[in-house]
Amino acid sequence: MKVCVIGTGYVGLVTGVCLAEIGHRVICVDKDNKKISLLNSGKIPIYEPGLKELISKNRSSESMIFNSDSGSGIRQSDIIFVCVDTPPNPSGHPNLTAIDEVAKLIGSSINSYKIIVNKSTVPIGTAKRIEKIIKDNQTIDNNYDFDIVSNPEFLKEGEAVKDVFFPERLVIGSDSRKAIDIMKKLYEPIINQDFDYAESNSNKKEKIPILITDSTSSELIKYASNAYLATKISFINEIANLCERIGANILDVTYGMGLDSRIGPKFMKAGIGWGGSCFPKDVRALRYTSEEYGAPAGILNAVIQVNNQQKFKVIQKAMDMLGIIDDKIVGVLGLSFKPDTDDTRESPPIAIINKFLELGAEVRVYDPVVKKYPPYMDSGATIVDDPYEAIDGANLLVLVTEWDEFLNLDYKKVKNLMKFSNIIDGRNFLNKEKLQDIGFKYVGIGI
Ligand code: UDX
Repeated sequence: MKVCVIGTGYVGLVTGVCLAEIGHRVICVDKDNKKISLLNSGKIPIYEPGLKELISKNRSSESMIFNSDSGSGIRQSDIIFVCVDTPPNPSGHPNLTAIDEVAKLIGSSINSYKIIVNKSTVPIGTAKRIEKIIKDNQTIDNNYDFDIVSNPEFLKEGEAVKDVFFPERLVIGSDSRKAIDIMKKLYEPIINQDFDYAESNSNKKEKIPILITDSTSSELIKYASNAYLATKISFINEIANLCERIGANILDVTYGMGLDSRIGPKFMKAGIGWGGSCFPKDVRALRYTSEEYGAPAGILNAVIQVNNQQKFKVIQKAMDMLGIIDDKIVGVLGLSFKPDTDDTRESPPIAIINKFLELGAEVRVYDPVVKKYPPYMDSGATIVDDPYEAIDGANLLVLVTEWDEFLNLDYKKVKNLMKFSNIIDGRNFLNKEKLQDIGFKYVGIGI
């Protein structure tokens, strides 16, 4: 099928290349000319395992092309995926400017029946909003039929390609039988797990469950899923904080809880809290919508509040270890909001680093992938190229992102380099016993 993907961010690029790989002809468009030139020169603006190779393969076979002419992309395609960003407004409500612009463009460019698929996480009711904007921008000359489909993405950064090819479910929300049938056809290779990439891949599944529903329920499935996962983490972090007070161990507690199949072992890691481009934005947006519609968001308020406080547990622990923070050297390992991504949006490490600087510490940061100063990070911190440089002469080492690389550091060397052997492991990631044997004072979260 001929597909146009509007927006070449995380969601757009991964969706586009995966659709090309399963046999469709995909035009990826973005109004940012520079981004399109970069992509056309074979460079990928984001770090995502496997993405570069797949894009290069599908560009060579011309099943995927990049173009900055969105109108032409729309006209040449039967299905249009909207993958533009919906950044949060201060109120928590997502900013829909980019979505509205795309809807206007579709309205003025439409030249045959089209399906418009909402992939971006959009506020509940956006499918109807897009429909209205498209209609308002059609003229008598291009008054073609179209259908809107809500088809939320559930991709995790760092595992995005895998999540598109081998999803746990596909959700399709639409009132149009015709659009639903075409969407099923589009995804047929994924639903049946019948495409080349899957053949040699250990993640291949038998068949993918597909849920057909209305667009409003589909939009809510996405928000409620992310909010539920964030709730799980905030809950566990609250229990971890209690563990510290009463002398229990959160690792044993979560293991014991997870053995109950109704609870399950996943997404139960205590730490410095959740961040990233999705959870913070989506939880706030769902709270906003709940309140807007008079459905109290008591749980969501608490989930956000616990998370806001959780990052600063590291600071309290540092104060307990070091006393006055002023003039102390703090080596920070990690900067991205989680491993295997260069994304620093709403990354808890940034708030922690800023707080250490505010308290007068000298902060050196090492991350295997993030090498540039992220927005909102105080430029007083130094980003270094070598993990040992970050902790050289430090009073304290703080691990904030659980990159595998940090498991394999030479901790005897680390101890010799540091002024004092203090470690705060904000992700309960390192081997506590081993580090204590080497002579470190080790503190985790809830252990
Ligand atoms: C998330 C959803 O998982 C995905 O389905 C959705 O489409 C987009 O949002 P992502 O933002 O990539 O994906 O990150 P995820 O791996 O879910 O982690 C989110 C945050 O929770 C990270 O900050 C992570 O460190 C934290 N986390 C996760 C924990 O603190 N503990 C856990 O047990 C799991």
